[in-house]
Amino acid sequence: MTVLVTGGAGFIGSHLAEAFLEDGREVVVIDPLDPYYDTDIKRRNIDRCRSVGGDRYEFVDGSITDEALVRDLVSSRDVEYVFHQAAQAGVRTSVENPKKPHEINTTGLLNLLLAAEEAGVERFVNASSSSVYGEMEYLPYDEDHQNVPQSPYGVTKLTAEHYCRVWTDVYDVPTVSLRYFTVYGPRMRPNMAITNFTSRCLNGEPPVIYGDGQQTRDFTYVDDIVEANRSLLETDAADGEAMNVGSTGNITIEELAEHIVEETGADVDLEYAEAKEADARHTHADVSKATDLIGYEPTTTIREGVSRFVDWYRENRDWYEPLVLNS
Ligand SMILES: NC(=O)c1ccc[n+]([C@@H]2O[C@H](COP(=O)([O-])OP(=O)(O)OC[C@H]3O[C@@H](n4cnc5c(N)ncnc54)[C@H](O)[C@@H]3O)[C@@H](O)[C@H]2O)c1
Repeated sequence: MTVLVTGGAGFIGSHLAEAFLEDGREVVVIDPLDPYYDTDIKRRNIDRCRSVGGDRYEFVDGSITDEALVRDLVSSRDVEYVFHQAAQAGVRTSVENPKKPHEINTTGLLNLLLAAEEAGVERFVNASSSSVYGEMEYLPYDEDHQNVPQSPYGVTKLTAEHYCRVWTDVYDVPTVSLRYFTVYGPRMRPNMAITNFTSRCLNGEPPVIYGDGQQTRDFTYVDDIVEANRSLLETDAADGEAMNVGSTGNITIEELAEHIVEETGADVDLEYAEAKEADARHTHADVSKATDLIGYEPTTTIREGVSRFVDWYRENRDWYEPLVLNS
């Protein structure tokens, strides 16, 4: 049984590919190594998966926007499960360049759904995002909360969810959308608060908080995300559904910075800079739907996760930090 992980050279996709390879599955990854951040991070992710999976791992250097390639890949490799992680991620980036996320996150997704339908895949799991909620009415967000995305990225993610639901209802492709809430962990994307704060603290520089630091986030450790996806190989519940996959609780950005200062032992004060408009003020997930439907139970608290990330960063600092600073 072959599992296709799109965007599998990226942060979350490579963790999924590695986990499926560890489970003994055949994994094929499609990723064009988009230079959104230093591609050497992605090359290392591929090398790591290859070392875990050997012949059971195949990397295809290509784009999901190439319809013929996607169709051929899904049918010729006997793909039974698709874990779709490929995207132009980033809220702020999408405000600056809205066409690219549209092409990848929406048109690319459509190519995959058409190919999945043609090949009769068992299940299509779509990586969605808390950005589909946008304007906040109440917290924590449950799936009945309104969807008023505040960025082109959020619009593409919500559109993708609707396509998935329709491909279940109309075309009989079993799909599930998992709404990730800010994911972090080893090999994470550069230019996110946890990476920036950690690299600054380890270099004796103060972490820079945009705004007053009272904005809150639900930071989800990548292992919890892997478990949510993995459970979808074992159950056929939740067809056509979208659900939150968040953490054990949310914290302010200021508290996060304080944890990282503490964990790194840096002798620095926090620094504040002007807020960035596109960012949501608060995110917090109610995960009860995912608990009911797929047994999702996040286990890693932000303190444990930050501590693990800082340990990993120290161990891998020689190669990771220059690539992070270069991105
Ligand atoms: N990291 C988070 O906090 C977070 C939160 C919510 C949702 N998500 C979603 O999770 C998924 C994975 O995010 P990530 O953090 O691992 O990001 P990432 O940028 O590390 O991974 C995305 C991968 O997709 C690849 N990609 C880009 N264009 C492609 C194309 N045309 N065809 C195939 N692959 C392409 C990139 O090269 C990259 O390796 C994305 O769908 C993202 O929107 C992430």
